[in-house]
Amino acid sequence: MDLFDRVIERRNTDCEKWDGLEQLFGAPDALPMWVADMDFAAPEPVLEALRAKIDHGVLGYTRRTDAYLEAVAGWMAERHGWPVEKEWIVFCPGVVPALNLIVQAFTEPGDKVVIQTPVYPPFYNVVKNHGRELVLNPLRKNGDRYEMDLDDLESKLDDKVKLLILCSPHNPVGRVWTREELERLAELSEKHGFLVASDEIHADLVYAPHTHTPFANISEWSKRRTIVCTAPSKTFNIAGLNTANMIIPDKELRDRFAREVAKYSLGSITPTGHAATIAAYREGGPWLDALLAYLQQNIDYALEVVAKELPELRAVKPEATYLLWLDCRGLGMSVKELNAFLLKEAKLALNNGAMFGTDGEGYVRMNLACSRATVKEGMNRLTAAVRALRQRREDSRS
Ligand SMILES: Cc1ncc(COP(=O)(O)O)c(C=O)c1O
Repeated sequence: MDLFDRVIERRNTDCEKWDGLEQLFGAPDALPMWVADMDFAAPEPVLEALRAKIDHGVLGYTRRTDAYLEAVAGWMAERHGWPVEKEWIVFCPGVVPALNLIVQAFTEPGDKVVIQTPVYPPFYNVVKNHGRELVLNPLRKNGDRYEMDLDDLESKLDDKVKLLILCSPHNPVGRVWTREELERLAELSEKHGFLVASDEIHADLVYAPHTHTPFANISEWSKRRTIVCTAPSKTFNIAGLNTANMIIPDKELRDRFAREVAKYSLGSITPTGHAATIAAYREGGPWLDALLAYLQQNIDYALEVVAKELPELRAVKPEATYLLWLDCRGLGMSVKELNAFLLKEAKLALNNGAMFGTDGEGYVRMNLACSRATVKEGMNRLTAAVRALRQRREDSRS
């Protein structure tokens, strides 16, 4: 049996995904395939490091050690071919908190910030929360694959655009941006002088033959004008430990960002987050390789079911992330109807695509980071509900 086949009961552990079902969806019997965490245990070396901390018993204030910085930098060099210097790393308790601070530190009220939609919902909030103006640069669909529309972007750039928040790899459309795409984006950043906050939280969850390129490693310009947001949280399923690292090669940008972190007293790491990050980045590589092989099979399985059984739906094949972006527009339902259908008839708790922007309407995001048995159960529920709907529609026509 594969390590990841083991089903771990998560109900009654206070986790959002399972225990939040009743409150958030009003459907305690739905199968939760929504929020982006995994139903798997963290890697054994991470758990051992946490046990050692707990067994020691004293959980006081913790400093970031050289071992921590070396583990982060070592991972970036080894997994992403990116030579990171230890002093470039600035801690923040999460990537979303960091994006809020970036918007505050590097833009003024009334400035414009670009996001590429449909996209992870907090990207909208981190701009709007601070009175900055959102500029939407919708991704373009080429068949079932999304691409950046850089001509549209260029047409929207003016001297009020100060920042672009890049999602790389992209949640929810699963793209791993190619070096060429990123180079073109970096050229626009140089020509028009905007900063890039590159959210690379999904960078480790990339499937061959795709490879992730850190945006700060694209050009001399991008190295000076990029804040790369990273975290071990998605990769090793330790999001609850609130540990993230912003990698900022340029000293001026870095100092400005660090001042913003200090202003809100957000620079303190937990002893568990510190220990887990060191263990994960030092020893988690083999576990991650096994995870990626398992997730790829989950994805292949779901794609096959959609292709064979669900002609009304179209799946966007993820090049990264464990999230499947499903085009359900063929069902001919409004956002509200689709929500109700999935929840009440398929008994599935998914993220409705409309959360990711108006260009996500008619889509859903399905989290496949669970045991194969759960993926099968989810796809069976979906297939049975769509079949019953098809039948009802046929019956009403005859
Ligand atoms: C693109 C992206 N950024 C950030 C986050 C969350 O980051 P954090 O929990 O570190 O704030 C997620 C979680 O799903 C995500 O998908």
